[in-house]
Parts: sequence; C-alpha cells; structure tokens
Amino acid sequence: MSPEHTAGSGLLTEIDHVAIAVADLDAAVDYYRRSFGAEVTHRERVESDGVEEALIAVAQSYIQLVSPTRPDSPVAAFLERRGEGLHHVGYRVADCAEALQAVRDAGGRLIDEAPRPGSRGTTVAFVHPKGALGTLIELVQE
Ligand code: CO
Repeated sequence: MSPEHTAGSGLLTEIDHVAIAVADLDAAVDYYRRSFGAEVTHRERVESDGVEEALIAVAQSYIQLVSPTRPDSPVAAFLERRGEGLHHVGYRVADCAEALQAVRDAGGRLIDEAPRPGSRGTTVAFVHPKGALGTLIELVQE
C-alpha cells in the first residue's frame, strides 16, 4: 500500500476486521461460501469472551463471524437485543496500549482499561460504543 494512501490515518494502520454477530456459525460460514466462494482461514474458540469465531481473509483484513458459546456471553446478549448483524470494527494499530491511552486522553469511554490477549495471538482492547459514535471499536495489535 502506498504511504500516501495511509497518510492521515493517525494511529490506525489498517482495518483489521469487521465483526458480524451470528446465531449459527456453521450456517454463516456456509452463507459466505455459497454467496462469495469465500473460505474460512482461521477458526477459534475464545473461552474468555464466550465466543467462537471464523475468520475470512479479504486482502489484509478479515471478516470475523462471531457466535456465542454460552448464554452469558456478551455476544449472546447482543443477539438477544439486536439480532444478527454488525457487532464491532477492529482497527489495527502498531501499539495497543498507546492507542488505548490516546482514546482515554481524548475523553473516550473504555471497556478494557488495559490491553489483553485476543484471538490469533493478537493483543486487543475494546472502546465503548457510547462516546465512539455508536460503534464498538476493537484496537488490534498483531
Ligand atoms: Co474482534
């Protein structure tokens, strides 16, 4: 990617993933296969978050299909309230702690006060949608 293209994006280096909450992960994977010929490149259960995710690579980014593994999962609550749909956007950053501090300094409301392990061996932190234009933001450091 050309430097001109990313100039001005500040601490954000890439769209890491777009996460879509789904009730049935296998059905969602099948939808992307049937509709777009897209195949899953990574699948993982993240017990700490109570989710299972399937990642479909699109260029340097991912579509992340995410479904709950237990009733008290935040994604289960989301599905109950809102139904299936766009859940959060993951922005790739060089340094998750630095980006989190920048959001804090700007007066943002945080879900994670400190970076923590995410899937794929990443380090992540979530920013609360209230105060972030109604969008749940995940900061992702590879
Ligand atoms: Co995510």
